[in-house]
Amino acid sequence: MDRMQQTKERLDRAGQAHLLVGAEKLGAPELVRFLNEINSLPLEDLAGMLAQTSSQKSRDLSALAPPNIIHHNAANSQEFREVGEELIRRAKVAAFTVAGGQGTRLGWRGPKGTYPATVVTGKPLFRVFAEQLLATERRYSVRIPWFIMTSPQNDADTQAFFADNNYFGRHKQEHIFIPQGVVPCTDADGRILLSDAGHVATNPDGHGGAIRALHQTGALKEMVARGITQLSYFQVDNPLVRVIDPVFIGAHVSAKGSSGEMSSKCVPKRNAAEKVGVLCNFPTPKGDRTTVIEYSDLPAAMAQQRDAGGELAFGAANIAVHVISVEFAQRLALSAEIKLPWHRAHKKVPCFDPATGAHTQPDKPNAFKFECFIFDALPLAQSSVTLQTTRMEEFAPIKNAEGEDSPASSHRIQSDRNGAWLESVGVIIPRRTDGSVDAKIEIGPLAALEANDLRNRNPARSIRRGEEFVM
Ligand code: UTP
Repeated sequence: MDRMQQTKERLDRAGQAHLLVGAEKLGAPELVRFLNEINSLPLEDLAGMLAQTSSQKSRDLSALAPPNIIHHNAANSQEFREVGEELIRRAKVAAFTVAGGQGTRLGWRGPKGTYPATVVTGKPLFRVFAEQLLATERRYSVRIPWFIMTSPQNDADTQAFFADNNYFGRHKQEHIFIPQGVVPCTDADGRILLSDAGHVATNPDGHGGAIRALHQTGALKEMVARGITQLSYFQVDNPLVRVIDPVFIGAHVSAKGSSGEMSSKCVPKRNAAEKVGVLCNFPTPKGDRTTVIEYSDLPAAMAQQRDAGGELAFGAANIAVHVISVEFAQRLALSAEIKLPWHRAHKKVPCFDPATGAHTQPDKPNAFKFECFIFDALPLAQSSVTLQTTRMEEFAPIKNAEGEDSPASSHRIQSDRNGAWLESVGVIIPRRTDGSVDAKIEIGPLAALEANDLRNRNPARSIRRGEEFVM
């Protein structure tokens, strides 16, 4: 049977026969490409994804409890640090960046990791992470593999960026690019949309697609072959992330009962109304598990609840920084029963009608996009820790072009953090009346990975109001 007939039958079975309307007008190479594209889609899963996402019941939140948070202090930090450092030194840890998102809110042409993120020199995000890895490799005399999840849309550009920058001085073979899967966008009736003649409208399958991508690209096997046991997972948009944090890794493997399967960092919510997912505990017959409740699902009364110390009881904001054990990722990837749930979002998706030849640029949401979220893996982990940090130290994401979580807000937090680091070694820093740092201060990872590293560098001086300072 020829490819066209096979595809037609598969589409008929999936109720998507309309996709081939007008296909006869495509040239031979375009048609072959189109049929390949259709055949690479998870058509058989679509009905289940639609049914699951349209019947999602609201969760029973009555058994939720605040999470057990580990706070940094001098004693536990040192203990965790030693455990984490030992694993790093023994080459058991890899970095894992999810960088397959579309970055539509930021509106940057090109992969988000190429965005100039730092305050003075405008280092791209990928360079910031690479320099952290380089500094960590030098410190522990080890090579650290870096797994980077891309999407089919940005994989070539991402790889070219690394090659053009000579892998930022790191060994080329320590970079493993893994393109994630895509899923089709549908209309309200579940019919797959086209973006153009001979092109299906698709989107990457979410950061939760990481588990599938790690498995399908052979990355998990590669990790096992290299003896990697822990993945330091982070998103591409946070220039303050600690790419490899020995304290967090140590805390994770020291989880109560057994070594952690998936752990998280959190920061205190700014206020009860902040739109951010929160980490919570819930009881199961096998003991407490951790989960993330999205802000839209958290009832106002719970969002406002205070603990005995007057803090928000459900105030542990998820910042999407995790340590994931390779064994846990394998269990998730290989188990037929355990699947991360799909979520759907109503979005504006440009599309093409083959019957009329018309392109539509919608001004209101017209389509559903389907995605999986990595934090849905948390409740499946048998052991996990939640480590609290602060926004100023570790979280300054760049998501929007303006306003909150924008380059401007990230720059302010970066300068605040770098100013505080310099202050801790005696540098005089100018501050505004609201306490924020009144200068643009950049400290590259090769100069310091944390405040303590500045002690030997003796940057003793003062910084002027409005000065641009780089080290
Ligand atoms: P966001 O949820 O911020 O989405 O991703 P986004 O696609 O980058 O940006 P918008 O929503 O279109 O503006 C959080 C992190 O998850 C990664 C992103 O690259 C980012 O690091 N991500 C997201 C993926 O790797 N794949 C996806 O399918 C979605």
